[in-house]
Amino acid sequence: MTRPLLIAFDGPAASGKGTLASVIAADYGLPFLDTGLLYRAAGHLAHVRHIDPVLAATLIDAETLADEALRGRDAGERASQVAAIPEVRAALFTYQQDFANQPAGAVLDGRDIGTVIAPHATVKLFVTAAPEVRAHRRWLQLVKLNPDLSEAEVLSDIRIRDERDSSRSSAPLEKATDALLLDTSDLGIEAAIATARSLVKSRL
Ligand code: CDP
Ligand code: CDP
Repeated sequence: MTRPLLIAFDGPAASGKGTLASVIAADYGLPFLDTGLLYRAAGHLAHVRHIDPVLAATLIDAETLADEALRGRDAGERASQVAAIPEVRAALFTYQQDFANQPAGAVLDGRDIGTVIAPHATVKLFVTAAPEVRAHRRWLQLVKLNPDLSEAEVLSDIRIRDERDSSRSSAPLEKATDALLLDTSDLGIEAAIATARSLVKSRL
């Protein structure tokens, strides 16, 4: 029997990993999980309910995941803060691992998919881009929700989050040694999708 197709996308904020992962999932008819949304939900619930983030991580449901507030600037920052707590990561581990190991195969995107959640993935891509490029992309998304937000503020947020995510002791953001690197700094969406498709194909 052939192994189910499991594809891992990791990388820093606004590198384009979620966009690419969802396209590749559609290409291969695979279920897709944006794991960042789980950390955003845990941080958001902890904040609005004034509860411990570890408890919040156990209370995530479909309604929480559909909350528009999870797409906001504060939710990204809160996610990164709670994601540094090992017990929060442990509370979210089994759900992610079960999703990765379902018989249908799967695509997941996050920070530690290729290193911790699915080290056995068939294909691993580490998607990155220059901080200024990522800040511009994220600013274009966030300014629709908050017209007063400056690009410099978004760049500062991104640098702080990259540093925290990369330096934490529990499942830091890092490229798996066997991951393929995709730098999207100079690639528009269509070119990035074409490159991701050929990188995935090269590993199958
Ligand atoms: O979309 P963006 O890359 O800005 O963020 P996200 O993927 O929604 O993740 C939000 C935060 O959750 C990240 O900054 C990480 O701190 C954390 N995260 C993580 O630690 N591990 C993951 N697998 C996914 C997200
Ligand atoms: O998931 P992640 O935070 O890494 O990024 P994303 O949500 O896939 O992409 C962030 C924004 O950048 C989206 O609006 C994408 O359409 C855009 N993007 C882009 O302009 N050029 C790329 N090569 C990839 C994404």
